[in-house]
Amino acid sequence: MNDWAQKRVLMAVLFAAGLVSPALAVEKGLADKGEVIVRENCSRCHAVGLVGDSPNPDAPPFRTLSSKYPIEDLAESLAEGIVSGHPEMPIFVFKPHDIDAIIAYLESIQETPSDPEEMPDAAPGQTTDG
Ligand code: HEC
Repeated sequence: MNDWAQKRVLMAVLFAAGLVSPALAVEKGLADKGEVIVRENCSRCHAVGLVGDSPNPDAPPFRTLSSKYPIEDLAESLAEGIVSGHPEMPIFVFKPHDIDAIIAYLESIQETPSDPEEMPDAAPGQTTDG
């Protein structure tokens, strides 16, 4: 191969690499990965899908988490290990990429995307003491 041909190959490679940025596909892949993670780790207590009740009645269904706080806030807790002050819930510590995936998935299933008007101020049957 002469110099010129080598440069052409290099250019072709760089060009192809530059084209690989399908942001949406990445997002979708992330959420899919997050779904796998939460199904494996969380679904024995939490409802992790768009419908259904939590197997553990004390564990909030994931689709309702955004009514309590922004989902992104969870990223920090996931990185440090969720300590909910609840002895039943094991402490999980996730890698940053797994956390991105979990957050992407959780955001994709929220039924109330941070709408303050949807906040129940005193849902019947719920106590606020911890
Ligand atoms: C063994 C059962 C169990 C498993 C497994 C479990 N949880 Fe929980 N989780 C609970 C319970 C029970 C609560 C309610 C705790 C409370 O209200 O104090 C809870 C609460 C939460 C909350 C809300 C905390 C808050 O302050 O309101 C989040 C977020 C959460 N879990 C995330 C997860 C994630 C993410 C996973 C999987 C990686 C997971 N949980 C796995 C039982 C579990």
